[in-house]
Amino acid sequence: MQNESPGNKPIDVLILAAGLGTRMRSGIAKVLHRLGETPLINHVCRTAAALGPDKIYVVVGHQADEVKKAVLEEIEADRVEFVMQKEQLGTGDAVNAAREHFTDRDSTLLILSGDVPLIRHETLASLVQYHHNHRGRGAAATVLTVKLKDPTGYGRVGRSGEGLFDRIVEQKDASNVELEINEINAGIYCFDSRKLFAALAEVKNDNAQGEYYLTDVPAMLREAGEDVAVYSHSDHKEIEGVNNRVQLAEMERVLRRRTVQRLMLDSGVTFIDPKSVYISERAKFGRDTVIYPNVSVEGNSEIGDGCTIRQGTRLTNARVGHGVEILDNCVVADSEIGNGCTVGPMAHLRGKAVMMEGAKVGNFVEMKKTRLGRGSKANHLTYLGDATIGDKTNIGAGTITCNYDGKNKHETHIGNDVKIGSDTMLVAPVKVGDGAATGAGSVVTKEVEAGELVAGVPARPLKQRAE
Ligand code: UD1
Ligand code: MG
Repeated sequence: MQNESPGNKPIDVLILAAGLGTRMRSGIAKVLHRLGETPLINHVCRTAAALGPDKIYVVVGHQADEVKKAVLEEIEADRVEFVMQKEQLGTGDAVNAAREHFTDRDSTLLILSGDVPLIRHETLASLVQYHHNHRGRGAAATVLTVKLKDPTGYGRVGRSGEGLFDRIVEQKDASNVELEINEINAGIYCFDSRKLFAALAEVKNDNAQGEYYLTDVPAMLREAGEDVAVYSHSDHKEIEGVNNRVQLAEMERVLRRRTVQRLMLDSGVTFIDPKSVYISERAKFGRDTVIYPNVSVEGNSEIGDGCTIRQGTRLTNARVGHGVEILDNCVVADSEIGNGCTVGPMAHLRGKAVMMEGAKVGNFVEMKKTRLGRGSKANHLTYLGDATIGDKTNIGAGTITCNYDGKNKHETHIGNDVKIGSDTMLVAPVKVGDGAATGAGSVVTKEVEAGELVAGVPARPLKQRAE
């Protein structure tokens, strides 16, 4: 989209985000509640930034510092201007707080609500275009509306006998007849900035909530003989607002469905039960990967082609190669799994655990900050922490790297082709050379040389393993 409107006016965006959100019954400002993994306000900022406006104004008030911090994680500081609304006296007052920025400015101002997160930038671009082209000369204001089966809670948009815009009535101020109207105000508008601020100075708070309503402005402009347009949109899911936790949960469902559908259609991922999975919008998948029910894939996880992820597994910031099988009920966080590996059931990889190609980790195995080499196996009941393990090594059932002495963490290094016997305790720092072996129940406190077989408590050399 071009920055310049047909009339050469710049486009600005203003996002309302100062309210507390009483209906959330929360200690956290509403716009900071998360939808998917992202605060509501960040969804809106992302969409606003995608339009490429001149400036993005964000009106803050409740928990202003936290809201600012969230916004700055989404857009660069030089693209955004924060406006402080000291007291939350209504949406009209919130916009009015930005007045000083507009004294010498003549722009098209697109107003968005911080609690309407699923609006798409394509829809906003069409709205702006519609606003500019209205009757060939552009409108003073354009209101985005949608028809809802249940319009409860929203401002209703009244139209004249000819179907032109008449006024917006808030739920709490509406008569029984007006409550029957199912065309609602989405809280998204385009204004001629000069006409908006001129009218805002006249807005009164003589209504059911004693607030200064932004929603009064379009009717005021119409009464002053200005053109007010209505842009009616068909997809109601995009414009739904979050005012309580029921709506938030409902929207979460919509967002999840969008993500899963995109992955099925564009990335070729199979979901056995699409409704039961939680997939981050940021996660990436290869083709022909199959996801079983109740799987969560969070953060910046990347999963390759032809993988199978079984029931109840959670992956957080995981990198998974091709042809990997992750069995039921595993947790993989901040870790990497190479091509052709098998994990689980009930394995736990965390804190930079790395499995090299073809490695296997079985049931009740935990790995932390540990590299398990190519084709190596740790199949049962094992803890591997702060360790490097070479290729084709077998870690017997019940092995533990005793990496913590109560104060510090120490490392264990195990070479290639090693056989660690069942129930071996490796008291770190300790090294086990290539081709060495430990007997069942060994407590290894000293370096084991390459090819050596040790056993006992503490473990002592028995003979060369080759013999
Ligand atoms: C508003 C509209 C309503 C519309 C609905 C769409 C008004 C008066 N009503 O109602 O017509 O159908 O949105 O979702 O505008 N805010 C401030 N400062 C304030 C008050 C609110 O910044 O003083 C912010 C809130 O943080 C929120 C947004 O404005 O992001 C909307 O406020 P909210 O209280 O949710 O308005 P609704 O009752 O939903
Ligand atoms: Mg709202």
